[in-house]
Amino acid sequence: MSETVKATIEGKEIAFPVIVGTENEKAIDIAKLRAETGYITYDDGYKNTAACRSKITFIDGEQGILQYRGYPIEQLAEKSNFLETAYLVIFGELPTKAELAHFRELIAEHTPIHHNMRHHFEGFPASAPPMAILAAMFNAVSCYSSHLLEVDYDRETLLEASAKLLGKTSTIAAYTHKKASGRPFCHSNPTLDYSANFLHMMFSEPYKEYLGHPDVVRALDLILVLHADHEQNCSTSTVRMVGSSRVNLFASVSAGVAALWGPLHGGANLAVIQQLERIHSAGMTIDQVIDKAKDKNSDFRLMGFGHRIYKNFDPRAKILKTACDRVLDALKRKDPLLDIARAIEERALEDSYFVDRKLYPNVDFYSGIVMRAIGIPLDMFTVMFAMGRMPGWIANWQEMRQDPKSVINRPRQVYEGHTKRDYLAMDKR
Ligand code: ACO
Repeated sequence: MSETVKATIEGKEIAFPVIVGTENEKAIDIAKLRAETGYITYDDGYKNTAACRSKITFIDGEQGILQYRGYPIEQLAEKSNFLETAYLVIFGELPTKAELAHFRELIAEHTPIHHNMRHHFEGFPASAPPMAILAAMFNAVSCYSSHLLEVDYDRETLLEASAKLLGKTSTIAAYTHKKASGRPFCHSNPTLDYSANFLHMMFSEPYKEYLGHPDVVRALDLILVLHADHEQNCSTSTVRMVGSSRVNLFASVSAGVAALWGPLHGGANLAVIQQLERIHSAGMTIDQVIDKAKDKNSDFRLMGFGHRIYKNFDPRAKILKTACDRVLDALKRKDPLLDIARAIEERALEDSYFVDRKLYPNVDFYSGIVMRAIGIPLDMFTVMFAMGRMPGWIANWQEMRQDPKSVINRPRQVYEGHTKRDYLAMDKR
């Protein structure tokens, strides 16, 4: 007999079924709670609530486990690349060589933007926040692909929509950067891999081709692999929430971009560099920084240290640390902020305050440093996160659309406002 959990509500005992996931995660199914008792549950921020059943990503924060479709992130980081991982996340299985080649070709085909879309860029001021442009442009892309506004995708349509979103994200991101810096747009090069082509569109000039160091290209690709999905985080839940109204994938993803834009979600790697800048301009020594982070009378925290979910280590940070070291060595770039970052990391990793509280550098610490070293401007960091997270958004949207039981998401609330009162105009009281 399947497991149940019993609760007594106003003297009445009620049994709730327990759902057990494939990694033995347990959830109490309260679907009948309101109908049978009149009660609802209250869970601020959904910290204890599973909003869906999913087969995409598994995380165990205590053990430092992250798996896409069952594959450990460490293996994907070592053996895969962003496009193969994106295919895995979206379609559920690793592609064959032929499938991957076809996916790559489709993405190359869909990477250039429609000529008319250039006018959209002209309409944005040079100071426009890149995430605002990205969110707007995803909706604009949908205007050029009316058949993709359908919500029931077969495999071929999903393939086309995925190629379009992945391809266009890199072009829109690079164009946004060119627009902000007043430099000419640069066409994509279909012979290059995804990450190399993005760097080419970002940094090549008409008079000078950007040739990324292989360690730099690999590190960027790795950042994208490590961000491809992270189960029901704020932006992915937003994509599902918005998509549950049966709106198209492009509008749903655009909402995901908006959610990611917030400093509590996608802005953490940015915060790392901004803090390093403040430390540098204030001329603080490493001792002063570490002491301030430990001082309970100060609200100063070391940005990029600690994680809400990963309580022992962030598996993505472990992987990225090695790539980060390689990039810094390869580029041999003199940058006082990177020196400060390395010194803080070294000191914190041997300081009992951080060791006892298991406060290790998280993925944002290293991704911030790598992106800074590559030359990605600060205001583009969150755009890079969006580029990486695209497969997860697509996969979650499609999973929800394919679930015959999926309904429009409509949480309840506990109302705490006025009880009923009669209308009386304000100036007649
Ligand atoms: N620097 C100094 N001390 C810290 C830090 C830090 N970065 N993070 C946590 N602590 C201390 C706390 O002061 C607390 O100490 P105490 O036990 O003596 O009171 C202890 O470690 C536990 O801290 P909590 O806030 O309870 O840990 P929680 O898991 O709630 O917070 C969080 C995790 C928010 C990530 C926190 O570590 C933090 O603020 N880090 C810095 C910001 C950051 O890097 N955020 C991005 C995280 S990645 C992401 O979300 C995408």
